[in-house]
Amino acid sequence: MPNPKPKLEGEVYYPSEAVKAQANVPDWEAMAEHARHDLQGFWAERAEELEWFQKWDKVLDDSNKPFFKWFVGGKTNIVHNAIDRHLNTARKNKLALIWESEKGDQQRTFSYFSLNREVSRFANIIKAMGVQKGDRVTIYLPRIPEISFAMLACAKIGAVHSVVFAGFSVDALQGRIEDSQSKLVITADGSYQNGKVVELKRTVDEALKKCPSVENVIVVRRVGHDVPMEASRDHWYHDMCALPIANGKCATEVLDAEDPLYILYTSGSTGKPKAILHTHGGYMVGTYTTLKYVFDLKDDDRWWCAADPGWVTGHSYIVYAPLILGATSFMFEGGPAYPYPNRWWQCIERYGITVFYTAPTAIRGLMRFGEAWPAKHDLSSLRLLGTVGEPINPEAWRWYYRVIGKNQCPIMDTWWQTETGMFMITPTPTVPLKPGSATRPFFGLEAEILDDAGNAVADGEEGYLVLKNPWPAMLRTIYGDDERYVSQYWSKYPGKYLAGDSARRDKDGYFWIIGRVDDVIKVSGHRLGTAEVESALVSHPAVAEAAAIGLPHEVKGTAIHCFCILRSGFAPSEALAEELRQHVAKHMGPIARPEDVKFTDKLPKTRSGKIMRRVLKARAQGLPEGDISTLEE
Ligand code: WT7
Repeated sequence: MPNPKPKLEGEVYYPSEAVKAQANVPDWEAMAEHARHDLQGFWAERAEELEWFQKWDKVLDDSNKPFFKWFVGGKTNIVHNAIDRHLNTARKNKLALIWESEKGDQQRTFSYFSLNREVSRFANIIKAMGVQKGDRVTIYLPRIPEISFAMLACAKIGAVHSVVFAGFSVDALQGRIEDSQSKLVITADGSYQNGKVVELKRTVDEALKKCPSVENVIVVRRVGHDVPMEASRDHWYHDMCALPIANGKCATEVLDAEDPLYILYTSGSTGKPKAILHTHGGYMVGTYTTLKYVFDLKDDDRWWCAADPGWVTGHSYIVYAPLILGATSFMFEGGPAYPYPNRWWQCIERYGITVFYTAPTAIRGLMRFGEAWPAKHDLSSLRLLGTVGEPINPEAWRWYYRVIGKNQCPIMDTWWQTETGMFMITPTPTVPLKPGSATRPFFGLEAEILDDAGNAVADGEEGYLVLKNPWPAMLRTIYGDDERYVSQYWSKYPGKYLAGDSARRDKDGYFWIIGRVDDVIKVSGHRLGTAEVESALVSHPAVAEAAAIGLPHEVKGTAIHCFCILRSGFAPSEALAEELRQHVAKHMGPIARPEDVKFTDKLPKTRSGKIMRRVLKARAQGLPEGDISTLEE
């Protein structure tokens, strides 16, 4: 790609001298040039900044594409770099984590020293439950420090964590436990959401009725509710902590760079969610490098990624990368608007947050409450902002920039995915910004926009977004399904990674993401599959067939709309529609609750019987239906 012109087209925000003077990447072009000419050398240099028990023989092994391997022969453990190595430095007594409860009535802080104690103790407890290297552990916890401890404890002993977002419900949890064949589930007695208790343990009990692989359940006390405990299967975490085995000393397992770190389920175009597999070495290097360069973290920063640890954003940028960098992170249990819409701004002021990362849906939601709420708080500690999860509309971008960042803080719009593990298309702080564009690919990456036939489209035209070269934090496969890994990501355009998004590139080489091209719906930035919503609907006795589509929504970005064909004996009614919406929420989780359920006698299908959601979507919006030659009569 040619160097960008000094004068860019459109609405452009240039970095201030202050931002330029301190950036970890002072010269974007030089760094990009280095990575372009020597991809492996670039990543080797980054990897050398971290500690290895044994150095790698080969940076990248691409002899068996698309099963790439990174830092082959290297021995490491991500926890050694996230915790252990800091204990011999001045960072030992630095705060690693600051946590505040939803209501603000509790605060907990952990230095790197005490984090090590917590994680080691948790690791010993997990080991005592019979979990060994390579075993899967399902973690179903709210935003409390124990979720980080549990994840790090698994990694420390070489177990593979599978975190299920605590906003998911029975069906989603059960499917994920079953697919991963976890032996152990770690949960809490409940969680708080907007002042109400969510009964996590009861959901686990329900799910485990159909999960024979699970031998033990560890229950962290959070809300103090009485929950049924099944003797010999369920164990209170605080009881385990009192046992002699639960001491704060536990050796970190020496692992191969390519040993699995975690699986994380995400929705794909069809069928059940995919277990995305990440490994220790490459993921460690990729997440560390991107956080350092994109969010410019320094030792005196206070970093707040307001995502949930249950999504990849939380895995990479709440739990792992900030610790590898030795940073101080803030974790907040609650949401942005409870009890009042100043909750986040209050936290920024209270803890002196310097770098803040959230999603467009949250910004749009908070915008609606007006500028008076942020105006109550001193936000002057902020120096950098970020966004992720879906395209940010320029209006929300400008509000974020002006009202929260006071026209001083560049906004890092980071495009990436569960699969990519790390930021992929993103600015660094010195890159000129255009509201709504994630700017350009990160160092060492090349992106392209292709038409159906695989030809590059002209600048400004929409097409499929693909990535042309491997990166260290890339998924290694879909756990247990190598074939699906190849067909899903590497088959439409052989040798190129298909992201599943449509996008365009402008004349300046800036990328503009448009949205998913498959049957994935992004509701408030959460990735849901139409197939999962539909199977929840047909599990209701009244529903014979169902189709789910996403339609634009002012705050959520996209909302779920459903069309149902009823079984004979059931009549359409407002009450039934409401019942079905609740049914989906109960089975999948509140985030999947449909905006709207409509009844119909017929769904548009292809002759081979596939529902044409594209046609439903066009009809619902009064848009042209496109090519309907495959539509059955
Ligand atoms: C999908 C991946 C990776 C963090 C959370 C999402 C959309 C993500 C952006 C952005 C436009 C974005 C894409 C992508 N997306 N970030 N900055 N601009 N779209 O991870 O749940 O795996 O979803 O989120 O559609 O494919 P995910």
